[in-house]
Amino acid sequence: MVNNAKLLNWIDEMVHLCQPDTIHWCDGSEEEFNHMANQLVKRGSFIRLNPEKHPNSYFAITDPTDVARVEDRTYICSLKQEDAGPNNNWLDPKEMKETLRGLFTGCMKGRTMYIIPFSMGPLGSPISQIGIELTDSPYVVCNMKIMTRIGEKVLDSLGETGDFVPCLHTVGSPLEDGQQDVAWPCSKTKYIVHFPEERAIWSYGSGYGGNALLGKKCFALRIASVMARDEGWLAEHMLIVGVTNPEGEKKYIAAAFPSACGKTNLAMMLPTLPGWKVETVGDDIAWMKFGKDGRLYAINPEAGFFGVAPGTSMKTNPNALIAASKNTIFTNVALSDEHDVWWEGLTDEQPKHLMDWLRRDWKPGFHRPAAHPNSRFTAPANQCPSIDPAWENPEGVPISAILFGGRRASFIPLVYEAHNWQHGTFLGASVASEMTAAAFGAIGQLRHDPFAMLPFCGYNMADYMKHWLETGKKADESKLPKIFFVNWFRKDENGKFIWPGYGDNIRVLKWIFERLDGKNNYTESALGHIPAEGAVDITGLNLTNDDMKKLFALTKEEGLNEVKSLREYFERFGARLPKEITEELNALEERVNKL
Ligand code: GTP
Ligand code: SPV
Ligand code: MN
Repeated sequence: MVNNAKLLNWIDEMVHLCQPDTIHWCDGSEEEFNHMANQLVKRGSFIRLNPEKHPNSYFAITDPTDVARVEDRTYICSLKQEDAGPNNNWLDPKEMKETLRGLFTGCMKGRTMYIIPFSMGPLGSPISQIGIELTDSPYVVCNMKIMTRIGEKVLDSLGETGDFVPCLHTVGSPLEDGQQDVAWPCSKTKYIVHFPEERAIWSYGSGYGGNALLGKKCFALRIASVMARDEGWLAEHMLIVGVTNPEGEKKYIAAAFPSACGKTNLAMMLPTLPGWKVETVGDDIAWMKFGKDGRLYAINPEAGFFGVAPGTSMKTNPNALIAASKNTIFTNVALSDEHDVWWEGLTDEQPKHLMDWLRRDWKPGFHRPAAHPNSRFTAPANQCPSIDPAWENPEGVPISAILFGGRRASFIPLVYEAHNWQHGTFLGASVASEMTAAAFGAIGQLRHDPFAMLPFCGYNMADYMKHWLETGKKADESKLPKIFFVNWFRKDENGKFIWPGYGDNIRVLKWIFERLDGKNNYTESALGHIPAEGAVDITGLNLTNDDMKKLFALTKEEGLNEVKSLREYFERFGARLPKEITEELNALEERVNKL
């Protein structure tokens, strides 16, 4: 019996508004998942994969217009526009509610409203939060079952008076009496809207990824970042890994890279250096709070991976492939004649024939990818061979280092270290990266993406920088994580990546690990501490000294361009930009001028 008054009232109101034919409370059981997957197969939305290759797994194709997050349709509707900041789309919340009420009226006609109680984070953790998603998409229910902890146990934990974040979602495609459904219902009109003061989410028109699985970017980042600001913690677009050295000493590291810039890969990395071990706590989001000992502890609020498929192979990321070997949903990949999945980079040899992500025939030699570049797998985290024993620890894991990074073909070195927390906050604020297929936009174009949170920060980015600075001031700096910047994506004059990346990134983690232990293996550069010559272990790699030089080359011209570009970017925050950020930028300019 559900007896939470806030929940019952809200559901009543939303049922009245959306007018679904029926209502289904999700219990989170396997039977429920199987039943819904079967319905999706019947409807033509899912194709069951060959059970010998992928037991209990499904292939899904979206509408060709619904393949990634829609940042231009994503809004932060705070009461005041300046609280959303220049980094967010904003409309007056009253006006937006009116528009949404219009759109949502009768939006679930002919469909079922599924009620998904979900927990972000292990149930009972002091860091966890509860959300309730109402959706008319069974695809969303199946994905939420993998990505979060859903069902009755969450309602029990909510109890009579517990609070939750209301998350309303519709594909925006009501069915008239007798109207045949399509395989991927969605709407041309899309709105992904957040009301930060009310802590509510309304999502209209898309069925895919971060637009529709509302626990992820909408709640765990945009709404949670607001909670974190108000309550003194951090909600970040970060992976979390445990790194153990050959002596058996273990440290946890969190890393923020923009979408499709290598978080999942680093989180599950198979180190190429003997004796080193990397274990996965999370691959996309970290919630971090201070423990009683003054250290920063992180949990992964998710329970699954929504990972980029292209480029994932037994060579690059075997742990991801094994995690996705069963009980997995693949979306917008290609399908083989044997009902197995395929995507660019999975195997060296291309299959002789495929159905591509647009349901067309595909053969090797076609000049178009078989899988969409943002095609993804939804896989349970506990199936990952590298999952960390503490990944569900309700207290979280203590973080020793925070990494920022992005795709930078030039200028940014393989790795450098911040002088202190304030400088590290500046490093986060200065993240810029070449855009990827994870969101609609000009792929390859460099854009500023502070903290890899540009599309995910639920408030003014200048205040976000301030929150980071204040977090540092409140804490005992000796107990705070040390901050680093990394770049796996530097290219040579022929446009090829210089650094081998993937499992070889352990070599950079090793240098970081040693820095955390206080080893004096660095030299000063204009940007920060860089490894001393020979301090990055490249034994066994096909890299010349010349290559290593290229990975750390810093020219005055490029440095001044970077400073100029940052200054222009920061200007948009006006007087709200913390003075510490300007101080750090000026200091960087001074150091670059001495080059
Ligand atoms: P989101 O799920 O969108 O947040 O992405 P992510 O940050 O988890 O990125 P992911 O690890 O899925 O990597 C995205 C793409 O970058 C994939 O095609 C990878 O193969 C590629 N990639 C990841 N790590 C490396 C690396 O070290 N070097 C190179 N060259 N490519 C990498
Ligand atoms: C990202 O784009 O950063 C993702 C995928 O992790 S989505 O869930 O669509 O946001
Ligand atoms: Mn992400």
